[in-house]
Amino acid sequence: MRKPLIAGNWKMFKSLDQVGTFADDFISRVLDIENTDILLCPPYVYVQSLAQACEGTQVMVGAQNVFWEDEGAYTGEISALMLKSIGAEYSIIGHSERRQFFHETDETVNKRLFASIKADLVPIVCVGETLNDRESGKTFDIIGSQIRQGLEGLGSDMADTLVIAYEPVWAIGTGKTATPQMAQEVHAYIRTVITGLFGKEIAQNMRILYGGSVKGDNIDSLMAQDDIDGALVGGASLDAASFERILRFKG
Ligand code: 13P
Repeated sequence: MRKPLIAGNWKMFKSLDQVGTFADDFISRVLDIENTDILLCPPYVYVQSLAQACEGTQVMVGAQNVFWEDEGAYTGEISALMLKSIGAEYSIIGHSERRQFFHETDETVNKRLFASIKADLVPIVCVGETLNDRESGKTFDIIGSQIRQGLEGLGSDMADTLVIAYEPVWAIGTGKTATPQMAQEVHAYIRTVITGLFGKEIAQNMRILYGGSVKGDNIDSLMAQDDIDGALVGGASLDAASFERILRFKG
């Protein structure tokens, strides 16, 4: 019913040469994969060349962030329209590293969300609790409020392409993965919140990705969960063979 989506978030890694080498190797490895959507999100500066390398294949390219104005005197920022014009199809919004290091808030997530939809970029809105939130029993409260505030004002007519990524902050880059059961519990909760906001049909069709130390050896058990519809993969997406293994999950 929901086509899985597996996205690589390269964060701030790779040189232009390394991007080219990755693309040559990776594309030939995954050309036969049809039942999963494949997305690569490189740093902004490589979006265009990677999109060109992937042209004519099913591999899609997205950005790791997006600014909310179309154009203007905003030194250093990149608009959704610009990204769309160079071949991006998706944008990651509100990643916890942006929340942690660049003062991203639910309000700015909301602005980036509307700009993405307007430019026809599919938004991947990231939510997740810190270790402190989890240990003090606030996981659901935090996730619920990130979703309600991040998606504020979004109508059901605009919510149908939206993707949510659940990335517990304590599991990112730490080697600590949420157990499949822990992730499933939060994904099911997210679907309940989405049902409340947009109704059952949209919630049932919405893809909810898990992110946080996803690797070849844990993807199968994660994807076997009812409400996990894909993954947002950091470190393990930088290597073509290890990302291919994740894309060939069983479950
Ligand atoms: P890791 O897979 O490196 O833990 O990163 C997860 C992530 O932040 C993806 O957006």
